[in-house]
Amino acid sequence: MKNIYISTPVYYVNGKPHIGHAYTTVIADFLKRYFEQRGHRCFLLTGTDEHGKKILRSSQENKQDVVDFVEDNVTNFKKLWDMLNIDYSVFTRTTNQKHEDLVKEVFSSLYKTKEIYEGNYEGFYCVKCEDFFTKKFSTDNQKCINCNGTLQFLNEEVFFLKVTNKREWIINLYKKNPRFLIPEKIKNELFNNFIDNDLSDLCVSRKKNGWGIETPISSGQEIYVWFDALLSYLSGFKQLKSESQEIDFWNDENIKIQIIGKEISRFHGLYWPILLDLLNKPQPNVILAHDWILFQGEKMSKSRGNIIDPNLLINKYGSDALRFFLLKEITISKGGKYSEELLVDCINNNLVNEFGNLFSRTIQMIIKYANGIIPESDLKSENTMHIKKIIMENKIKVENFWKDYFFSKGINELLAFIRDINKIIEDQKPWTLFKTNNKTKLNNLLNLLANCLLYIGWMFSPVLVDSWEKICEQLGILNENIDNARIENFGFLSNKKVKRTSHLFERINN
Ligand code: MSP
Repeated sequence: MKNIYISTPVYYVNGKPHIGHAYTTVIADFLKRYFEQRGHRCFLLTGTDEHGKKILRSSQENKQDVVDFVEDNVTNFKKLWDMLNIDYSVFTRTTNQKHEDLVKEVFSSLYKTKEIYEGNYEGFYCVKCEDFFTKKFSTDNQKCINCNGTLQFLNEEVFFLKVTNKREWIINLYKKNPRFLIPEKIKNELFNNFIDNDLSDLCVSRKKNGWGIETPISSGQEIYVWFDALLSYLSGFKQLKSESQEIDFWNDENIKIQIIGKEISRFHGLYWPILLDLLNKPQPNVILAHDWILFQGEKMSKSRGNIIDPNLLINKYGSDALRFFLLKEITISKGGKYSEELLVDCINNNLVNEFGNLFSRTIQMIIKYANGIIPESDLKSENTMHIKKIIMENKIKVENFWKDYFFSKGINELLAFIRDINKIIEDQKPWTLFKTNNKTKLNNLLNLLANCLLYIGWMFSPVLVDSWEKICEQLGILNENIDNARIENFGFLSNKKVKRTSHLFERINN
């Protein structure tokens, strides 16, 4: 079993997190829980990007000292991840001393090997995106093509990282691993806009503004925030008590999945692999660049002012509901829209009407027809074979989707399975079996239905973290005892005493 490293971007702390940040982090957490369920050891890195003009400016706008401002927002991110049940292994910070030391060390060593050199940058800069734009890529009205913010014109003595001479190397990297950056259309954009077209060396410093890591070579400059931030993916290991995690999770053998939003794919698909290569470190297996959450027709972002605070949604609807909505309604390749109405529809239709109803109706039948004790199953009966087969077929479909990062399709397959099981109940009419005293068939059916609940709950558990606890409690089992083998072995639930507690999901009547 290979170890798996998963990362989110390190988020800017220029404000509170919104549901865009939550989306990426929920994907990362879902993958971690899913792979752990399949027996892998996983490491999840998330954290914050705290230096640079953007953050400094926001703290000033907020009339707060930058250190306090950053601390407050770090706390906001950490609180949200706790509320969303994000099981991260490390929360890395770019203001951490060990991170700063690593960044300086890398900068110095690349300067020594002449990969970093001094030069003059003449062109535009967008503070909101912390990105340089050559004349070619800025629009005529001097607005940023990304965020539409005002561009600054710079003429500065800076340091550059050699990128142009790595063109062949980068092309080769993508030839060896065509899925290095997915989806394909994002990779193609990177090739069309940069690798095949306008590759230039990267500025890796900016004039000092007092909130950044000073360049170790000459004073008066600070290291460019992206050079600083990308190294978090490695320095995160150093912020843990035991640094040996790096050996286990960033090596040639293990799987490394880095999740980002599509707007930062150039940094991750071009500069990051170059940096790794210069450091003699292995490359990630995949950079998953997802599309955005749109709200009121536009990308949700702080600068556009159209953000939704996830804390409010979690307080109102619970963490599972938000996790479920994000994974079902927003896809990697197309993104999706957010509206409270869509979220409520998801809760009422999928969680309450479909999953919740099947669950409570089955538990009620076990209580009514079998005194609350899950009967033993007849492992060889035709019905058992049939239901086992549809579970296995469903599981393969869902896992194939999830393996390819089609989270929504996998979730929809599980919902289709729920509908199939409801149909089986309608066809086999346990209430009639009870009335006619057909005990053998009834008991077997009740056992099978309980196993279906276990299967659905277990498959959904990387999404519905809190509900999984309730499911186990109501099925009379301990969640740590469940594994793949037990899902496939129908004997496990026999004689367990079910418990009817609260509804799994509450209907929302707005
Ligand atoms: N600090 C950089 C990343 C450095 S990584 C070495 C940064 N930070 S950010 O705070 O702007 O976060 C951007 C990320 O947040 C996106 O790449 C994406 O993962 C997530 N999202 C922010 N807004 C989003 C949407 N509207 N929709 C979906 N995800 C979005 O960039």
